[in-house]
Amino acid sequence: MPAVGGIGPGTGKDYPGNLTPFVTVTCIVAAMGGLIFGYDIGISGGVTTMTPFLQKFFRSVWEKKEADKSKNQYCQYDSPTLTMFTSSLYLAALLSSIVASVVTRKLGRKLSMLFGGLLFFAGALINGFAKAVWMLIVGRMLLGFGIGFANQSVPLYLSEMAPYRFRGALNIGFQLSIAIGILIANVLNYFFAKIKGGWGWRLSLGGAMVPALIITVGSLVLPDTPNSLIERGQTEDAKANLRRIRGVEDVDEEFKDLVAASETSKLVEHPWRNLLKRKYRPHLTMAILIPFFQQLTGINVIMFYAPVLFSTIGFKDDAALMSAVITGVVNVGATVVSIYGVDKWGRRFLFLEGGVQMLICQAVVAACIGAKFGTSGNPGDLPKWYAIVVVLFICIYVAGFAWSWGPLGWLVPSEIFPLEIRSAAQSITVSVNMLFTFLVAQVFLTMLCHLKFGLFLFFAFFVIAMSIFIYYFLPETKSIPIEEMNQVWKSHWYWSRFIEDLDYPNGDMEMGKGGQGVKEV
Ligand code: BGC
Repeated sequence: MPAVGGIGPGTGKDYPGNLTPFVTVTCIVAAMGGLIFGYDIGISGGVTTMTPFLQKFFRSVWEKKEADKSKNQYCQYDSPTLTMFTSSLYLAALLSSIVASVVTRKLGRKLSMLFGGLLFFAGALINGFAKAVWMLIVGRMLLGFGIGFANQSVPLYLSEMAPYRFRGALNIGFQLSIAIGILIANVLNYFFAKIKGGWGWRLSLGGAMVPALIITVGSLVLPDTPNSLIERGQTEDAKANLRRIRGVEDVDEEFKDLVAASETSKLVEHPWRNLLKRKYRPHLTMAILIPFFQQLTGINVIMFYAPVLFSTIGFKDDAALMSAVITGVVNVGATVVSIYGVDKWGRRFLFLEGGVQMLICQAVVAACIGAKFGTSGNPGDLPKWYAIVVVLFICIYVAGFAWSWGPLGWLVPSEIFPLEIRSAAQSITVSVNMLFTFLVAQVFLTMLCHLKFGLFLFFAFFVIAMSIFIYYFLPETKSIPIEEMNQVWKSHWYWSRFIEDLDYPNGDMEMGKGGQGVKEV
C-alpha cells in the first residue's frame, strides 16, 4: 500500500522579509478576534450555575435542581430554554459567517472585523442589562453575529499578514487566543459568582464589552492586508503596505505573485460549483469532516458545561467553577505545546496521539461516573479521591484536544485548500463547525439526562472513528509549501484516484504563490 502519510518537504519560494515588530503587534491585535469567541465559550457554562441567574431567568431549572438534590443528578439541568441560551449564539454565527464572507471580500477584512466588534459590543450590552429571557437570547444572537464576522475575517487577516514561514504558528495563535478567552471567562465567573448582591452574572455577561472594544478599536487602527488592497484595486497602497509589513524594500517578487494570485482568483467564476469537481473531492471531504469530527470529540461539553458537569457529579458550586478554571489553564498550556510541536512532530502524530489520549480519558470518566451514579443518578456520598480522579482525567482529555483537534481543526483546512476554492471551502469549514457546535450545545443536557454516563462512550465512539479516518485518509502536510500540496493527494493510496496528472501539469498552478495568495474568490 502506498504511504498512508505523505511526501517529504518540497521546495517553496523564499520571499525576503521578517517577523517585524509591526507585523507582530498587528497580528496580536487581530488575534483578539479569537478572544471574543473564547470568552463566549467559557462564560455561559459558568453563569448557568449561578443561583441568582437561574432564579431570575430559568426558575424551573433552579426549582428542579433544588428538588432533585438527593435524586437523579443527570437530569437536573435539562431545560430547552437553558440550552437555547447557550446554543443560539452558534446558530447566529453560522448565518452571519455566510454574509461576512461577502463583506470580507468586497469591503475588506478590517471592516468585517469592525462589524464583528460592534455587533459583539451591542450583544454584551444587552446581556449585561438583561431583564428577561428574550433579552438574553437577543443578546446572545448579536454576539453570534459578531463572532461570525470575526471568525471569517481574523484568520484570513492573520494568514495574509504573516510571513509564510510563520503562518502555522500564527494560525495557532488564533486558537491560543480562543483558549485565553475561555480561561479569562472561567476566572471571572469564579470571582463574580461570589459577589454578595447576586448580580455577578451581569458583570460576567457584560464583561464581553471589553474584548469587543479591543477588537473594535483594533480594527480601526490596523492596516488592511496587501491582498485585500490589491483585490480592491489599490495596488500602490498595497505595495507600500507590504514593504512596511515585511520590513524590507525588496518585496517585488512577493508583490508580483500577490497580483497574479488576485488575477487568477478573478477568473474563477463559480467557486462553489468548482468545489464539486472530482479533483477537489479530498478537499471537500476534509472541509466537512474535520470540523464535524472536531466537535464530535465532545470538547464543548467540557468548555460550555464544565461547571454544570462538575456540579452534576457532586461538586459544590464554588468547586465546580474552580474546576472549570483548572481545565481552562490546561487548555491554554497544551495549546502552547502544539505551537511548539506542530511543525516538528507533524499533524498526523498530534492527531493520532491526541485521539488515543482522549479515548482513554473518556473511558475512565465514563467508568468513574457510572460506578458512582449508576443509572439512577443517585451517588450517595462521594469520596474526595473520586473528585480528584474525575478532574484529573478531564484535564488530560482537554490537553489531548488542545494540542491536536483544537488547533489542527482550523489549521489543516486552512493549509490544504488551493486558491481557487479557498474561500468557498473555508466557509464550509466554518459553517460545519458552527452547526455542530450548536447541535452539541443544544442536545448535551438532554443527552446527559438520557444516556447518563454512556454519553462519554458516545463521544468515545466518534474519537475512534476520527482516529481511523486520520490514519487512513489524512496525508501529512507538515513542511509542505501550499503550492505543492497537490503532491500529497497525488501520492496518497486513496485520494490519488481523484487527481489526474492533467489537473496540475506544472505543480499546483492555482497556488504557485508561495502560499501567500490567501484570496477571496
Ligand atoms: C473549537 C471550539 C472549542 C475550542 C476549545 C476550538 O478549536 O472550535 O469549539 O471550544 O477550540 O479551546
